[in-house]
Amino acid sequence: MVIAANLKTNLTRAKTAQYVDALEAFLKQHAIGQKVLVFPATSNLVTSQAHVTLGVQNAYPTQNGAFTGEIGLEQLEEFAIKTILIGHSERRHVLGESQETLVSKFNFFKEQGFEILYCIGEPLEVREAGEEAMMAYLEAQYAGIDTTYEKLIIAYEPVWAIGTGKTPTLEDIESLHAKLKAKSKAPLLYGGSVNMKNYQEVLALQNVDGVLVGGASLVVEDFAQMCLFAQTLNK
Ligand code: 13P
Repeated sequence: MVIAANLKTNLTRAKTAQYVDALEAFLKQHAIGQKVLVFPATSNLVTSQAHVTLGVQNAYPTQNGAFTGEIGLEQLEEFAIKTILIGHSERRHVLGESQETLVSKFNFFKEQGFEILYCIGEPLEVREAGEEAMMAYLEAQYAGIDTTYEKLIIAYEPVWAIGTGKTPTLEDIESLHAKLKAKSKAPLLYGGSVNMKNYQEVLALQNVDGVLVGGASLVVEDFAQMCLFAQTLNK
């Protein structure tokens, strides 16, 4: 399974280093063999450890150059980062990234052999518009994306479930994941208000290959418990 922490714009450099060290020690102690990804704020990047793989929340598709406010490959290479999050709903909806922009990032980092965690998910009004509208919306988020890329991981994160404490029902997650699995064989994670109350039942669902956790991942002990539980599922 893949258990991923998106730390978003939280923690300091010192706190992130403590977080990664504590998580690494826990995973080692419990001999956890699951894929554990941590995406810290860009200023807090550190190199991957034996059990914890560090990824970047965003980067510009360039080696280097004149792209104010962005980082490129040259900066990622310093930390040997080879994992990137692309298409998160906060980048799509808050930062205004278009599908075209995401595709250019995807292609660039694919070319560089990165592991890509690609996010999809519908806003509330789309979900409320019904099944057909929702599937068409999600379909459009696959446009231009190589769904057969061997280092691809997909995360389904309904926008209305992110940071809200609301989640789809377990039945809804399971049935949607079954449909999404038909589009790509890549590991498929669920994200959106995964917390200490619901992570076990979400992780146990069929066609859920892991979780992408925001707020609840900020407490390293909690995130570590999710990794431990994933290990017991033997999926
Ligand atoms: P929350 O877990 O805080 O809802 O965030 C989910 C998310 O956006 C992970 O990428």
